[in-house]
Amino acid sequence: MSATASAKEQFDRQAAHYNGQWASWTDETLQRMIVLADPQPTWRVLDVATGTGFTALGFAPRVAHVTGADLSPGMLAQATKRAEEQGIANIDWVETPAESLPFMDGAFDLVTVRIAPHHFSDVGTFLSETRRVLKSEGVFMLGDTTVPDDDPVAADWQNAVERERDPSHVANLSPETWRVLSERAGFTVTDLEGLSGAIRIALTPWLETAGATGERAERVRSLFAQAPKSARHHFEIATDAEGETHFSWQRVVLRAVVR
Ligand SMILES: C[S@@+](CC[C@H](N)C(=O)[O-])C[C@H]1O[C@@H](n2cnc3c(N)ncnc32)[C@H](O)[C@@H]1O
Repeated sequence: MSATASAKEQFDRQAAHYNGQWASWTDETLQRMIVLADPQPTWRVLDVATGTGFTALGFAPRVAHVTGADLSPGMLAQATKRAEEQGIANIDWVETPAESLPFMDGAFDLVTVRIAPHHFSDVGTFLSETRRVLKSEGVFMLGDTTVPDDDPVAADWQNAVERERDPSHVANLSPETWRVLSERAGFTVTDLEGLSGAIRIALTPWLETAGATGERAERVRSLFAQAPKSARHHFEIATDAEGETHFSWQRVVLRAVVR
């Protein structure tokens, strides 16, 4: 199965599990993206891989219009419901892969993507599509889970864990890799930040969000139990008194402008 088909199947199945817990893990990234993007009331925004719409709905009250795009109709159905519940009307939803965006050249002032590119089969094509649909002064705002630049052992362990937990995971990229790929696609990177430490994730709900149960969950637990020292250090892995394992969620936030 291709990475795109795998992501569609995974997220159609898991759409109902994107809930309050997801908001608590991801809100810090969204708030930082909003500050750095500095959205303007006249802007038209595209949120790629919008999922259940947290990022699109976060930007909508600050801009003229948001389009939320995702390849999973199940996730878009949840997003539609949440927009209605919140009374947000300056938004529409489009079913599409990130690697082939059905929009005119220069259609948007801002393209956002949050906690999703690690599922994309072809990040280079996603970035060149993003560059194409942005205006000449356009802004690209990314937030995603990440791995260290200078520690391949911890990075490989983390991506192996993620793939075991969620077969639609392709790769968490390091901050410097994002800089290089963005510049190669025609952007100038203005901000590149790491967010770490503040968001502690417990293994059990993290497995549940991805639908990892039975042997898959056990394999993830055993990868945590055998984590190399550098991964234990970098992801601040610890076990509490009840035996639950926790780790720090490492994220990268990047702002880039069209060159
Ligand atoms: C973890 S959710 C993140 C959702 C959202 N961006 C947020 O901030 O809450 C990842 C989303 O990426 C979508 N996705 C994965 N691969 C994709 C692709 N190649 N093109 C478009 N959407 C994709 C999935 O369907 C899912 O809705």
